[in-house]
Amino acid sequence: MGSAMQSAYILGIETSCDETAAAVVRSGEQTISNVVASQIATHQPYGGVVPELASREHLRAIVPVVRQALREAGRNYESIDALAVTQGPGLAGALLVGISYAKALAFALGKPLIAVNHLEGHVHAVLLEQRQEGNRELRFPALALVVSGGHTHLYLARLRDRSWSYENVGHTRDDAAGEAFDKVAKLLGLGYPGGPIIDRLSKYGNARAVKFSIAQIKRPDRKTPPAAREANAPNQAPPSRTLPRIEGSPAIRTRFDFSYSGIKTAVLRQVEARQLAASIEARRREMAGIGRPGLEDYLRHCDQPTLDLIASFQRAMVEDLVAKTLAAAREYEVASLFVSGGVAANQELRETFERRAAQYGLPVLFPSRALSTDNAAMIAAAAYPKFLTGNFAPMNFSAEARLELR
Ligand code: KG4
Ligand code: ZN
Repeated sequence: MGSAMQSAYILGIETSCDETAAAVVRSGEQTISNVVASQIATHQPYGGVVPELASREHLRAIVPVVRQALREAGRNYESIDALAVTQGPGLAGALLVGISYAKALAFALGKPLIAVNHLEGHVHAVLLEQRQEGNRELRFPALALVVSGGHTHLYLARLRDRSWSYENVGHTRDDAAGEAFDKVAKLLGLGYPGGPIIDRLSKYGNARAVKFSIAQIKRPDRKTPPAAREANAPNQAPPSRTLPRIEGSPAIRTRFDFSYSGIKTAVLRQVEARQLAASIEARRREMAGIGRPGLEDYLRHCDQPTLDLIASFQRAMVEDLVAKTLAAAREYEVASLFVSGGVAANQELRETFERRAAQYGLPVLFPSRALSTDNAAMIAAAAYPKFLTGNFAPMNFSAEARLELR
């Protein structure tokens, strides 16, 4: 940042799903405070996020969380330069809590308000930490895999004239990757959220015990633009570098889509074939009786076939995510790879990405675990380029549950 330019302190607010979060970030490059109030305990008994409960918990938490973020940053409301809030995608009712509060606060303080796409936030989590670590040599275009409980998206990210633009080159056709982790964990009586539990238990199983195959998408879906449908049509030559490319046009691009609803059914079939139903039921009961079960509790209640199933499931998920992402990275000849979102916390995913990307000489960047899952620092960081260009939200903007990133 040039010395002529002053620092800008942005207060970020995030309430798109089940975390109430607020953070203060300086000039998109330094996290001053980052507070996250998790609702996991509220939703745990239901095995997933209950939208009405999420809104209620956000209402309860928003004021104390914002106050704490300011206090930890050593700032008051007046010494903030702008506010940023997640507009979408996410749960409409949950988003509205953050948006209404941010609007009221911005209006009362006479400060500009910036609306941020949650997915752009996940991409900027990587940029924020790289800048914070002094890495200013980032190379573009970057391919960003945003992989969480609600999303599995591949974006080409570019910076032009201080503004970011994104092109979606892949998305899930059905379940998100994190959703598959959560559903499989639930199916195996492991509780919620499933990703972190499966991550830790996988080390104790044989990942080669069960062979899962994940759908390879051949047919374009309805969301795919017509020209790209042809490029993806099943009987045509495989995606090749001879495919005509129109710079800046998404029309003739090859897509790299994901599908994770099938693997959940495949796990269920394994449960039946291996007659695991009774032990799953017993585990479910035992775990419900323990307040916050730890690794030892899980291990005591998982037999080897179950651990093998867990490890094999995770291996299949990781292989598919890495293979499709690297195929896209090669097709679009990107200079770096970002991986973020809740599932980016997964140890095996990180190690596999690092190993495979290194073979192509491709730098792969992850946020720390704290910035991988939902947080408001990433929202404040994504808002900074918009702050610089004066891209402020009109007072009548509203939540957009299905907001797309462009
Ligand atoms: O980004 P996030 O906090 O919220 C969404 O926007 O969805 O991601 C939460 C998701 C959940 O599905 C959770 O099971 C998954 O991320 N997750 C993981 C891990 N930690 C969280 N999945 C696999 N391995 C992990 N270590
Ligand atoms: Zn998220």
